[in-house]
Amino acid sequence: MKFVKFGLLLCAAMLSMMATVGSTPVQAQKALIIGFSQIGSESGWRSSETASIKAEALKRGITLKFDDAQQKQENQIKAVRSFIAQGVDGILLAPVVETGWDAVLKEALDAKIPVVLVDRGVSADPSLYLTKVASDFVHEGRLAGSWLAQRTNGICNIVEIQGTVGSSAAIDRQKGFADVLTLFPGMKIIRTQSGDFTRTGGKTVMEAFLKAENGGKNICAVWAHNDDMVLGAIQAIKDAGLKPSKDILTISVDSVPDIFKAMADGEANATVELSPDLGVPAFDAIIASKAGKDVPKWIVSTSPMHFPDTAAAEYARRTAGAATAVATAAK
Ligand code: AHR
Repeated sequence: MKFVKFGLLLCAAMLSMMATVGSTPVQAQKALIIGFSQIGSESGWRSSETASIKAEALKRGITLKFDDAQQKQENQIKAVRSFIAQGVDGILLAPVVETGWDAVLKEALDAKIPVVLVDRGVSADPSLYLTKVASDFVHEGRLAGSWLAQRTNGICNIVEIQGTVGSSAAIDRQKGFADVLTLFPGMKIIRTQSGDFTRTGGKTVMEAFLKAENGGKNICAVWAHNDDMVLGAIQAIKDAGLKPSKDILTISVDSVPDIFKAMADGEANATVELSPDLGVPAFDAIIASKAGKDVPKWIVSTSPMHFPDTAAAEYARRTAGAATAVATAAK
């Protein structure tokens, strides 16, 4: 009996030693330091993306060096150069526009620092960055156009509010939507202008469109490259004495909580979802590349659509989730 007890104690001691030894490499692993050059905070979606990435970094014990570029590419280039000089383990870059990144990406590559593009793309050669974690903006535009074609039987005068000029999000969404219109000769874009992805931009542009188009009587639908701009446009439509979603249909991209509220209130028709939760795949990609694993050049997130029938429930669910993410990021 004594031998059995001794054997059990010995086993327990050995197991606990193994656990200590087994956990040593994990504890000894250097905490990653990642630089994140963010565009700014032009939209509700952008703020959710920032909160989500900060929360994921916190969860993983990653030190995140965050820089807000205030919509300026030169600030982003400065931030990336500063991350390189600090010798960070990886860089997340949300590029405000598509072009002009070749030199700084080459500098990061030469310094052996993997760069992950988050949400928007660049025109630079893909060999200059590790991967892009983003949805397919062309597909989003096609989804929006297809929904509108079905809803209007292919006959509609459309006004388009574009995102930031030169951004991949605006270029590709415009292209995807236009692809669908080539199939429907009765659908026309009668006015198009940039609202810079902001709510005030969307309102100002829509006010001008309404004025130019017989107080809105010539307009069948507004297609905006993001929800914030459509929410501004909805305000302009109401101010003009028309009913958004009825007199003028709305279609946009992002699926921010406020668009669900607008749909639940009967003021918006549809939204294509763009996930803001890009931290998980972005950090996973950096960790995988550091471990010598292959990483695909484009990690695509899906783009489901949402409509008024589920809007109230989605609004409740998403506002509860957002409050948690903001609280975690603020810790
Ligand atoms: O790049 C993604 C776009 O940028 C989002 O649709 C928009 O809201 C944001 O500002």
